[in-house]
Amino acid sequence: MHKVVRPKMLYFGTPVVLISTLNPDGTPNVAPMSSVWWLGEFCVLGLSTASRTVENLARHGECVLNLPSQDLVGAVDRLALLTGSDPVPPYKARMGYRHEPRKFEAAGLTPVPSEIVAPPRILECPVHLEAKVLGIRGVGGDESPLVAIETRVLRVHIEERLMMERAGDYIDPELWNPLIMSFCDFFGLGGKLRPSRLAEAWRPGQPTTTPTPGS
Ligand SMILES: Cc1cc2nc3c(=O)[nH]c(=O)nc-3n(C[C@H](O)[C@H](O)[C@H](O)COP(=O)(O)O)c2cc1C
Repeated sequence: MHKVVRPKMLYFGTPVVLISTLNPDGTPNVAPMSSVWWLGEFCVLGLSTASRTVENLARHGECVLNLPSQDLVGAVDRLALLTGSDPVPPYKARMGYRHEPRKFEAAGLTPVPSEIVAPPRILECPVHLEAKVLGIRGVGGDESPLVAIETRVLRVHIEERLMMERAGDYIDPELWNPLIMSFCDFFGLGGKLRPSRLAEAWRPGQPTTTPTPGS
């Protein structure tokens, strides 16, 4: 049986991204977000305009999409109720957010220089995607504070231990443990469910896994 409901949000589980941007005074800001998807070398970010991050992206147009693994959940949670915006937008103040100009320090994260863009990468994250903004468009009409930000990924940095031991730049999905936000809670991935025919088509010549019973 299914039931018709009106949930407050439709966050059915996407990876957490720590997006670093540059403040007007040149200091870095970092914010957790998870309304994100990739298509080829492009990445689309769903963000509220009531954030320092969107101001920074509209003004400066560069960012790093740092992907935390599950073990960084504590650092992500320390950033959860912080904003680089000053003053804090009223609805965020009501929710308990506070202004924090030094979020790297507050979260215990280490900034390292990027190679192409100005905002720093986050040392502790195994994946860094240097990116630039291609366009920003409203989502939900004139009254909505939401925007979709289209970016192009310019450079990809991956922790070496996540790479497959074979020719070609293949990241091993068995070794990558993304942090997932489902509704407002943190999750990791469970184990692989079964071999994927798509994986075999993308990586010909390498069995995707030992076949499981019943597969
Ligand atoms: C795990 C997690 C995921 C989030 N995902 C989003 C998101 O996808 N879009 C968004 O606008 N805000 C999201 N937020 C809220 C932002 O982090 C929040 O607006 C924050 O104040 C932004 O920081 P800034 O104002 O310094 O840019 C998320 C927060 C957490 C903790």
